[in-house]
Amino acid sequence: MSFPTVRMRRLRGSEALRRLVRETRLGRDDLVLPLFAVPGSGVRQPVASMPGVERLSVDQIAEEAKRVADLGIPAVILFGIPDAKDARGSGADAADGIVQRAVAAARRAAPDLCVMTDVCLCEYTDHGHCGLLEGETVANDPTLARLAATAVSHARAGADVVAPSDMMDGRVAAIRAALDAAHFESVPILAYAAKYASAYYGPFREAAESTPAFGDRRGYQMDPPNQREALREMQLDLDEGADVLMVKPALPYLDVLAEARRRFDVPLAAYHVSGEYAMLMAAAERGWLDGPRAMLEALVSIKRAGADFILTYAAKDVAARLP
Ligand code: PBG
Ligand code: ZN
Repeated sequence: MSFPTVRMRRLRGSEALRRLVRETRLGRDDLVLPLFAVPGSGVRQPVASMPGVERLSVDQIAEEAKRVADLGIPAVILFGIPDAKDARGSGADAADGIVQRAVAAARRAAPDLCVMTDVCLCEYTDHGHCGLLEGETVANDPTLARLAATAVSHARAGADVVAPSDMMDGRVAAIRAALDAAHFESVPILAYAAKYASAYYGPFREAAESTPAFGDRRGYQMDPPNQREALREMQLDLDEGADVLMVKPALPYLDVLAEARRRFDVPLAAYHVSGEYAMLMAAAERGWLDGPRAMLEALVSIKRAGADFILTYAAKDVAARLP
């Protein structure tokens, strides 16, 4: 049967009908807000390339955690900018490190909020790479113990979920073993499993001061043209004990997300990254598109492709605007 019997427009005739037949819904429950913790107190520093995003001192992280929880957002993910960096990223697993203090403050301020932490060395190393260096290469195996120690220190500080973003081989297994040995067997691992060497991390690196001092991350993050390899990365992380798999960035990699949805019966996350956020905000600022609508359209497309939840800098705005 086809036209004129079939008329697809019939079910588009009113908002009520459209609501009834809508296949995908974006809700508060889908959102995770990234937060950047910096030293000091009373500090709220706007990030120039991410309008609406501020770097917060630990006391302000606590305030923000409360606000986020009040908006009905289930989770935040914390990044830290330490006051000192060195070759091995000592700040990453310091018991009184910036993220460790931020986690504790957020938990105290908002006990029901899920507090996730990004586990990586790049914000803490003076060279800005995600692992330890041997000459000018990022050495995989020696990095694993550093990542595992970092994850354990986050759990000890009260993190509800740890999220390794470094892309070293074997890190999920190393972190799982270390968490279990420290009696954190109930702390889930959200693996940045398919993480690409992307130009869209630019604004984040300004916020996190984590631009590599030399070279780039192509020796450990994935090559953008590859999809099969991403699925293999995801399978491996699953085999190593990941509880949730993430694809990052989101919009340029919706094909990866959709295929992962078909293959894996585990929760999937997607990171709508800094550059994706920045370009929408920049176009909206110039009046070139309707920012709020474009943001909702981007986020719902990520859900439609198969994500269970989305890390997004727009979480607060979106939650405030959802019915
Ligand atoms: C750290 C990390 C990065 C992001 C999340 N964790 C930067 C990078 O890998 O260079 C990017 C997030 C964003 O752009 O919003 N490894
Ligand atoms: Zn990193």
